[in-house]
Amino acid sequence: MTIMDPPVWFFSLACLGALYISAISVRPLAYLVRCLRRPKDLHRYGSWAIVTGPTSGLGRSMAFELARRGLNLVLLDLNAANLQETSDAIKSLHSVAIKTLVLDLSLVATPQGDEAIRRLQEAIQGLQVGLLVNNAAVNTPGAVYLHEADIERFVRMIRVNLWGLTEVTAAVLPTMLARGRGAIVNVGSGSTLAVPSFPLYTVYSSTKKYVAHLSRSLYVEYRSKGIDVQYQVPFYVDTRMLSSAVKAKLRPWFVATPDDYTRTAATWIGNGPLCVPGAAQKLQWWLTGFVPDWVHDWYRIRLHLQHREILHGPRAVIANGNSRGGQAERPPNGNSSLGPNNGSLGPNNRD
Ligand SMILES: NC(=O)c1ccc[n+]([C@@H]2O[C@H](COP(=O)([O-])OP(=O)(O)OC[C@H]3O[C@@H](n4cnc5c(N)ncnc54)[C@H](OP(=O)(O)O)[C@@H]3O)[C@@H](O)[C@H]2O)c1
Repeated sequence: MTIMDPPVWFFSLACLGALYISAISVRPLAYLVRCLRRPKDLHRYGSWAIVTGPTSGLGRSMAFELARRGLNLVLLDLNAANLQETSDAIKSLHSVAIKTLVLDLSLVATPQGDEAIRRLQEAIQGLQVGLLVNNAAVNTPGAVYLHEADIERFVRMIRVNLWGLTEVTAAVLPTMLARGRGAIVNVGSGSTLAVPSFPLYTVYSSTKKYVAHLSRSLYVEYRSKGIDVQYQVPFYVDTRMLSSAVKAKLRPWFVATPDDYTRTAATWIGNGPLCVPGAAQKLQWWLTGFVPDWVHDWYRIRLHLQHREILHGPRAVIANGNSRGGQAERPPNGNSSLGPNNGSLGPNNRD
C-alpha cells in the first residue's frame, strides 16, 4: 500500500490552521511563563495599602487579603457605617492599623469631591503608602440600549469608574514618587479584554476600556520611577455586581468566588502590566481568542437582550421591537421607561 501525498489544498489549510493556533497560543504561553515568577513581597512597596470600594465584593475580599498579609489599610467608600463594619471585621481577625474615609467617587470634580480628595491627601500624609487598589465601580443601569436609561446614571458611572479612579490615582502618586516605590492595581473587566464588544453594557465596558489604556500608559510612564501599575481583569466573580439576570444565564463553573479571586490577584501585584487572576478565568480568556469577532458580537447581543428582558421585563422587549428604527418606547413625559424612578431598578437590582 502506498501513502499518497496530501492534496495541496489540504496541506495549505493545515498550515493556515497551525499558524492560527500558534499565533493564538503565543499570548497564553508568554503569560504562563510569568506565572512561574515568584510573587512580590508587598511590604517592599510600603506598609500601607489603599483600597477603594472595600465594603463589598472584590474590594472587601482584597482588603481582608491585604490585612492577612500584614498591610495596614486606608479604606475609601461611600458609606461611613459600612466602612466601620468592614474595618471592625478586619480588625477582629488581623492586627493591622486601619483608617477609613468617606469618599463618594461620583462627586469627583465637584466642590464636595475636591474636599474629599483633599481629605484623602491629608489622611495619607506621613504614611508609607505602597499600594493603591482602584477597585470601586458601578454597573447600573445594567443591560439597556444607550438611549433608554436616564443619562444621569451613565454620567455617574463614568464619574465613579473612570474619573474618580483617575483623580484618586493622581492624588496618591506623589507619595509613592517621593519614596520611589509603589504599586497600583486598577480593576478592569473581561468585557473589554476578551470580547470585541459588550452591547447593552456599552458605557460600563467603555469605562473599563479607558481604565485598560490608562493602566498600560501609566505602567510605561512610572515604571522607571519604581511604581508598578497593573490592570487586573476579573471575568465573572460572584458579587453583588452580577445581577440576577447575569447569574440566571451563567454556568457556575465560570464564576469565581471573591476570596478565591483576590487570593490569586494579590500574588500577581507588581508582576507585569496585565493580569487575569485564576486558572478558570485565564482559560476563559484563552478560549475566547479562538472565536471570531462576528460570533462574539452575535452571541453577546443575544445574551444581553435576554439580560435586559429579565431585568426590565417584557416591556423592554416591546421597546426593543419598536426600536429597530432607533425609537425606544418612552412614556409621555419623555423620561426613559428604564429611568431611576420607575421602580424596576432599585438599589438591589444592580449589575
Ligand atoms: N463581579 C464581577 O463579576 C466583576 C467582573 C468584572 C469586573 N468587575 C470589577 O470588579 C470591581 C469590584 O466589583 P464587585 O463585583 O466587587 O462590585 P460590588 O460588590 O458592587 O462592589 C463595588 C464597591 O464599590 C463601591 N462604590 C460604588 N460606588 C461608589 C462610589 N460612588 N464611591 C465610592 N465607592 C463606591 C461600593 O460601595 P457600596 O457598597 O457602599 O455601594 C462597593 O464597595 C469593579 O471594578 C468591577 O467593575 C467585577
